[in-house]
Amino acid sequence: MIKVEQGKALAPVIAGTTVALYLSYKIFLSLLHKKNKYTKEIPVPGSSYPYIGHMSSLGDMPAATISQWHKELGPIIQFRMGVQTWVSIDSPELAHKVMVTNGSKASHRNENEFAYKLYSFGGKGIVHSQPNAAWKKARAAVTAAIAPSQIELHMASIQKQAKKLVDTLMETSKKTKAGSFPFKDLQLYVMNTVTLIAYGKTFPTKDDPKFIEISETIDDGFKLSGVDYDLANYLPIFAIYDYFKGARNILKRFLKERRDPLFRGLINDAYHTDGPNLVKYLKENGYDLSEEETMVIFSDLTSAGTDTNSVYLCWTIAIMCRHPEVQLKIAAEIDDFVKRNGRLPLFSERLELPFCISAMKECMRYKPITAFGIPHMAIDDIEVDGYIIPKGATIISNMMSMHQNSEFYTDRPNEYVPERFLEALETSSASSKGKVEDRDHFNFGWGRRICPAIHMAEVETFVGFVELMSRCFIEPGEDGMPNIDIAENGGISILPSPYKVKFTDRSLIDPTQN
Ligand code: HEM
Repeated sequence: MIKVEQGKALAPVIAGTTVALYLSYKIFLSLLHKKNKYTKEIPVPGSSYPYIGHMSSLGDMPAATISQWHKELGPIIQFRMGVQTWVSIDSPELAHKVMVTNGSKASHRNENEFAYKLYSFGGKGIVHSQPNAAWKKARAAVTAAIAPSQIELHMASIQKQAKKLVDTLMETSKKTKAGSFPFKDLQLYVMNTVTLIAYGKTFPTKDDPKFIEISETIDDGFKLSGVDYDLANYLPIFAIYDYFKGARNILKRFLKERRDPLFRGLINDAYHTDGPNLVKYLKENGYDLSEEETMVIFSDLTSAGTDTNSVYLCWTIAIMCRHPEVQLKIAAEIDDFVKRNGRLPLFSERLELPFCISAMKECMRYKPITAFGIPHMAIDDIEVDGYIIPKGATIISNMMSMHQNSEFYTDRPNEYVPERFLEALETSSASSKGKVEDRDHFNFGWGRRICPAIHMAEVETFVGFVELMSRCFIEPGEDGMPNIDIAENGGISILPSPYKVKFTDRSLIDPTQN
């Protein structure tokens, strides 16, 4: 495992550069604030320092700090990450105007050292590439391969994986009274769905060496894409520091010795496995992709598709544990369906479980999966509502405060309200294509870069959650209720702090006692 030092050794170097660069900072700042009489200035939070800008003010949980800045300064703010200008938006309408209406100018990615130059071989694949012809081709291929009709081919296997997940959670709860943190089990379930579709392969347990290898490679990849390993990108003076620290070599070695052989192996094996998979689909359908392109696409899918869904389910379980009354209502809805049909509902029958769907959507709004989605970059000045987002700025939507925006979510935006979406039950996939004012939530991002796997994500979380709620009641473990007011910074995602819960057989519980 790679150990990431959170830049502790950097403080003296940063201090040393501060004074010398004060003058250039003043000039930069005056350019940053340059405005003409027709434009409004984008508010800048106060705690900025020469050269490093706001980097040292973001704290351990940047999303929370930026939420606070939005509270003080409004729906759009501008701050500096070293030499980079970042613009954060927490009004859905404004974000829509920037990233959808101005999609031609706001759909690029930052060309940073690790994710763009090294990990994606100069912008190959989907997640970090620029919106060019190669990106369109790769995105179209993946979108076709995970279209609803393709997911349907894997439905029986997804249901089987969901059963296995719930069996394991219940067995663990029987063995230990203390309760357990279900994250790794959820990761196994979610990764099995992704690897089944991508490579036609699943892993039997969370102790499987290949599962552990993939999971650690994804985790380390996320850590290495953090600011510490990319300092020269924000603070060019750190190119010298990187040279001595060998950060670039660490990144290159990680890719050459771990990421590349892992995905090359998974892709090669996939050609020879039985049944359909994405590797075969791309070949059979004439997608002419180079080896590097193919490797980045599969590495993108496996990384983007695993932690997002498992983080979501992990938050959902913690929220359910805290709301037994919601669990009972969901269970009653599922039981009623089972009584009428003699089986669990399919995703295509989701509208027969309105409360369950609304409660699931509300979990994603209440506890967003990522801090900022995946940042976009402006390739030209973008004028919206009298503001000018400058060319080259990194644009983020601050998921935490956006999902508590009281003008958009007028009813108790800071509380978990399971009925919130009862009148908005369409899939998030459909909702994301509609008008901004009708969207349910914004966890899947924006415009041309919107997550291409929303349907797949909704199917696998629905199947897993319904299986769980049809058989279990989630109760606190020995440490009491999960504390959902604290969270961990997972780089791209925001994880619940580890908690312990028990998955009790529902048939053994007297509902009147809850
Ligand atoms: C709860 C589950 C998920 C959430 C919350 C989520 C969220 C996101 C977000 C916020 C983005 C960036 C959108 C933007 O730039 O505006 C994204 C992009 C992407 N996601 Fe997802 N995602 C989820 C599941 C998945 C799954 C299951 C896969 C694949 C198996 C996947 C594959 C991708 C890919 C390839 C992109 C890059 C799209 C591009 O840059 O053009 N995601 N996702």
